[in-house]
Amino acid sequence: MSRIFADYMERARRILEGNWTGSSTKPAPSLYPHQWNWDSGFAAIGRSHYDTARAIQEIETLFDAQWSNGMLPQIVFDPNELGNYFPEPDFWQTGRSPHAPSVKLTSGITMPPVQAIAAEKIYQNARQPRIVRPFLERIYPKLLALHAYLYRERDPDQEGLVYIRHPWESGIDNSPTWDIPLSKITIDKASLPPYTRRDLEHGVDPKMRPSDDDYDRYVYLVDLFRQCNYDEFRIRERCPFLIQDPLFNSILCRANESLVRIANIIGDSPEMPLSWGRKTAEAVRKKLWHGEHGMFDAYDLISGQLIEVDTAAGFLPLYAGAAKREQAERLYNRLNSASFCSLHQGNCFTIPNYDTQKQGFDRSNYWRGPIWININWMLAQGLRRYGYTVKADSLQKDLLQLPIRFGFHEYFDSFDGTGYGSEDFSWTAALFIDLVHEFYESEKSVGTFKRRIKGFFAGDTILNNGSEMPDIDPDKLAGELMHNIRMLRDKFYDTNRGLVDYDRLNDSPEFQHYRILTNGLREFRPSCLMGRRAKLAFWTNLYNTIVVDAIVTLGVKQSVKEVPEFFRKWKYRIGPSLFSADDIEHGILRGNVRAWFYPFRPFSPRDPRRAMILTPLDPRIHFALVCGSRSCAPIDYYDVECIYDQLEAAAKSFVNSSEVLVLPEEGKVLLSEIFRWYEKDFGGKSSVIDFIFDYLVDEKAQGFIRENSASLKLEYLHYDWNLNR
Ligand code: GLC
Repeated sequence: MSRIFADYMERARRILEGNWTGSSTKPAPSLYPHQWNWDSGFAAIGRSHYDTARAIQEIETLFDAQWSNGMLPQIVFDPNELGNYFPEPDFWQTGRSPHAPSVKLTSGITMPPVQAIAAEKIYQNARQPRIVRPFLERIYPKLLALHAYLYRERDPDQEGLVYIRHPWESGIDNSPTWDIPLSKITIDKASLPPYTRRDLEHGVDPKMRPSDDDYDRYVYLVDLFRQCNYDEFRIRERCPFLIQDPLFNSILCRANESLVRIANIIGDSPEMPLSWGRKTAEAVRKKLWHGEHGMFDAYDLISGQLIEVDTAAGFLPLYAGAAKREQAERLYNRLNSASFCSLHQGNCFTIPNYDTQKQGFDRSNYWRGPIWININWMLAQGLRRYGYTVKADSLQKDLLQLPIRFGFHEYFDSFDGTGYGSEDFSWTAALFIDLVHEFYESEKSVGTFKRRIKGFFAGDTILNNGSEMPDIDPDKLAGELMHNIRMLRDKFYDTNRGLVDYDRLNDSPEFQHYRILTNGLREFRPSCLMGRRAKLAFWTNLYNTIVVDAIVTLGVKQSVKEVPEFFRKWKYRIGPSLFSADDIEHGILRGNVRAWFYPFRPFSPRDPRRAMILTPLDPRIHFALVCGSRSCAPIDYYDVECIYDQLEAAAKSFVNSSEVLVLPEEGKVLLSEIFRWYEKDFGGKSSVIDFIFDYLVDEKAQGFIRENSASLKLEYLHYDWNLNR
């Protein structure tokens, strides 16, 4: 476990323990005193990393209240806590339904079905997954019954899209998406059952909660359900609110994937969830996609129209893998814009629940603008699923820093991060735990693979030993090589996402040509490179491509760490000398300074390669050199003409990415290990701080550094060595 996060993990666990009721986790200490459906799923995901037994108990307690028709209720009431919430069982009167359980008190609606996802996580994260199998065997039929209920009762036309019939079922209660459908419900106050809101009795500012008008409509719908005795057919006939929501359907779709895997684990047939999942994914991308809007929208079954509103829910099909590539591309462009806080924008957090540019956006009002951890936790996975790694990292950065800086709140101000709603909120704590573990999980698997392959490779290997030589004058080779590397960049590097398509690159004629050109390096004289910019560009580009070359030549799967001495043993012959990636980095570009992990300088006093040393050292090269891993800077091609501007942009990008977390409330800054390994290159610790200060775009973060530069505590973030594939 990371030392850096250990304290916060402890805090997060204490919150979950504080909210544990004996058989499940309440969402928050007082505002939500019962068991909520999706909150429990998230809590179980957090606990799955350290307390399998309670994670299982959480889910099983919830399913003890499953209705006989398969519906999993939104709330399971704790009989000892009655009197503190509205609406409670006396209002719901679910006893009118033959399906409601007799021994449990529940509400009469459901919620986004995250439970299959949680069950799978419990299995994956258990120290001994074998022991979790009986739980999976018990829960699988219940999960199946839940999904079957949704497809049977909420998808009457068998479209593959299920509807919600109350805003509370969406989990995003007062989302602006519901404004239009709710506004069409005329309320006759006189015939509305009398009620008293209890949510405003917990010291929460009413401006941050749903309005009274909203509540009237919530109550109207519950009253209607009671009148229909919770009969789904009768409700469908009379309910003025029937919506096919992209968030609900995306979670269902993603949950089907988990169900398929659970079926495989327990040896059941995955047929059913497989076909549900396919059908829903297809329906989401066809029916809920609004081409002109460039987003997924909710479909209002009453008006027969898509509701064109820009909320984060519209991005959730990424989480389910339901979006087509072109759709994902357009979603990404929306998501990474000023509307939802773009990369390096500063003074905002990623991503607010509602478009910040829209009238009606409210940075502190519940689901009408703030940042919510659960939504962003799903979106980060969705972005990763489609390869938007840089954006996923920046989301991850905010998921980590918001609770650390502002407390484990229910939701957060989208501009300054202030925590709102309840404190000690369970899913904020649980998903924080999950996120930190995810970081370390990836490292564990790298280690295992590394052990397997260790010892297999030994001695120096020359990568450019091919027999085919380029048909080119050696003095022109550098230009041709740079041109070729730029083509590799254009075709196989995704500079936005910092990724390399190693498989396609390996099979391409461009890369075959690159290899031939590198054979020509054997007859090349680096002394013909004229001027500092040309040298910087040549060596930086060559460093980045020798890494790519070694990765594909060695068939690296997950991480360069699989190969011992990856950066030292794999070399290019250039003229009479050999150069490894380390020689290029530490010998040439860092001015023959020893690497932090190595006792000697790369070039000894009589080494002819000393003629190539580049001084003075420009620390910005650390944001241009790409070691084939996720924590490196995004890969690019560096052009002789504009390399200084490019280095400037690379440094700015890095300092404002998830590799630098400024935490004023904690009095510290968390930094990429690069700043520790190469501290001297920046001129020592205080110069590292100056450097960061100069590039930060967030004025508040800058202000904090300015005022505290002398006493600033620096801590270093885990370096993710997974391949930038
Ligand atoms: C609110 C939220 C909902 C959550 C519940 C308990 O109703 O909108 O998503 O499940 O509170 O935390």
